[in-house]
Amino acid sequence: MARHLITSAIPYINGIKHLGNLVGSQLPADLFARYCRARDHEVLFLCATDEHGTPAELAAAKAGQPVADYCAEMHAVQAEIARGFRLSFDHFGRSSSAQNRKLTQHFARRLHDQGLIREVSETQMYSPTDGRYLPDRYIEGTCPNCGYDSARGDQCDNCTKQLDPVDLINPRSSVSGATDLEMRETKHLYLCQSQMKDELEKWIDSKTDWPVLTTSIAKKWLNDGDGLQDRGITRDLDWGIPVQFDGAPWQGMEGKVFYVWFDAPIEYIACGAEWAEATGLDASAWERWWRTDKGAEDVTYTQFMGKDNVPFHTLSFPATILGSREPWKLVDYIKSFNYLNYDGGQFSTSRGRGVFMDQALEILPADYWRWWLLSHAPESSDSEFTWDNFQASVNKDLADVLGNFVSRVTKFCRSKFGEAVPQGGAYGAQEEALIARLTSRVREYQDHMEAMEVRKSASALRAIWVEGNEYLQEAAPWSTFKTDPERAAMQTRLALNLIRLYAVLSSPFIPDAAATMLEAMQTEDGTWPDDVPAALACLAPGHAFTVPDVLFSKITDESREDWQTRFSGIRT
Ligand code: MF3
Ligand code: ZN
Repeated sequence: MARHLITSAIPYINGIKHLGNLVGSQLPADLFARYCRARDHEVLFLCATDEHGTPAELAAAKAGQPVADYCAEMHAVQAEIARGFRLSFDHFGRSSSAQNRKLTQHFARRLHDQGLIREVSETQMYSPTDGRYLPDRYIEGTCPNCGYDSARGDQCDNCTKQLDPVDLINPRSSVSGATDLEMRETKHLYLCQSQMKDELEKWIDSKTDWPVLTTSIAKKWLNDGDGLQDRGITRDLDWGIPVQFDGAPWQGMEGKVFYVWFDAPIEYIACGAEWAEATGLDASAWERWWRTDKGAEDVTYTQFMGKDNVPFHTLSFPATILGSREPWKLVDYIKSFNYLNYDGGQFSTSRGRGVFMDQALEILPADYWRWWLLSHAPESSDSEFTWDNFQASVNKDLADVLGNFVSRVTKFCRSKFGEAVPQGGAYGAQEEALIARLTSRVREYQDHMEAMEVRKSASALRAIWVEGNEYLQEAAPWSTFKTDPERAAMQTRLALNLIRLYAVLSSPFIPDAAATMLEAMQTEDGTWPDDVPAALACLAPGHAFTVPDVLFSKITDESREDWQTRFSGIRT
């Protein structure tokens, strides 16, 4: 049994995420986790909320709440929506947890002891209007790299370049818009990434199987300008993990906190500790996933994220892990995604443009969204959500192909043979040919799932559904029944078994519909169809079933137009 540690980039706490965020990390991670579990692998799937730093402070200020209260509330909201989308995390943690505080301080200390932290006296933007320093997202301006005019102090969303607030052209405060900014001297801790450049490069070069999107971004920033830059890992903020160790102050760093991008990835590990505590297990339970000296040497660790997150996961976080010179588990595979656009523009949280996760679930069940998003995942390039395309895919793939198959087969059987699997004779040539095709298609599906090729997996699954429809069309048990009821019974038996097989294969994509299908077939047997003929003999003659309610309703033109209008403007 293989062991898979899977993490999704942890979403910022500030507000509800849109569908573009979902398809770039949490959803494909869930697909892979569900697939691994279905194949009987041991899985630990972790996600959390990213609660520190300027995004949290700014959002809490806007909501007029103390930041800790705001975070607690939003964590519960995001957890509920995640359940709504059937994201099957083993634990949904919080980067503000005690576990993360302890680990983050531990890593900083280790890095310091290894000579990888230096103190830097630097000038920071200070806003007299706001009466505070303006780190990271407290500041906006024009990107010096690509000219994008809303780049933030920590990163440009347009070209992914990691920035320093002082790099921005025409900087302004995000709090007040003030431009009368002054430079003030302050001291910060820097992580000496530059010392680790060769080691990181060697490590990345050894990952020949990584997606090009991942390695190209990593290499780009590895060799940017003079090479990998040292980065400040502390900030002049109130909210965050204090720069301390074992409760003792870090001299010269009083009142400062760690930079959110330093503590957020460490939460992947801390989340394991939170999971163990929440499930009443001791430390060895999470260490066997995270420490190669404590059982994690046979773990395969996969991370999922949007492309803007790649520099932090390929460079900064590995620098933290490697630099600690402790046996922590390093990532084995980084699956990254391009952006999903919305109806001719970009999804935008700040501008409230697009469909947000809560709104999506208000209008349709999770499976509809899961299917569309995954089958259109922005893998090789950016992709676009349009209501026309959404309507067409749902109506065709889910309603016409899969839903219709299930409905026709179960209703036909009920009317001709009753609500139990009929016996019938032996398979003929048509059935043998179908089985041969299914066998190779299932293999193809598995190969794509294992390679985390999300779109290709969806196409392979769709092709498996289509096989069933085509078989039904050719075999036409409703006509066979008139001349050869025995044969019609055999065809129906096979088709009913196909429903169970579909439930098992489809469950990573559309878990609710899959559960409904299994329930209708009155079985809990979710065994993976390694052997297609055996899988098609799972429901024996005489096995009772029920006709399920409509699996997927079609999206009408009226609903489509209605939603298109409703989501065209700004979220209120
Ligand atoms: N919150 C970040 C984002 O949404 C992702 C953080 S991932 C982690 O872009 F590595 F920091 F955990
Ligand atoms: Zn840029």
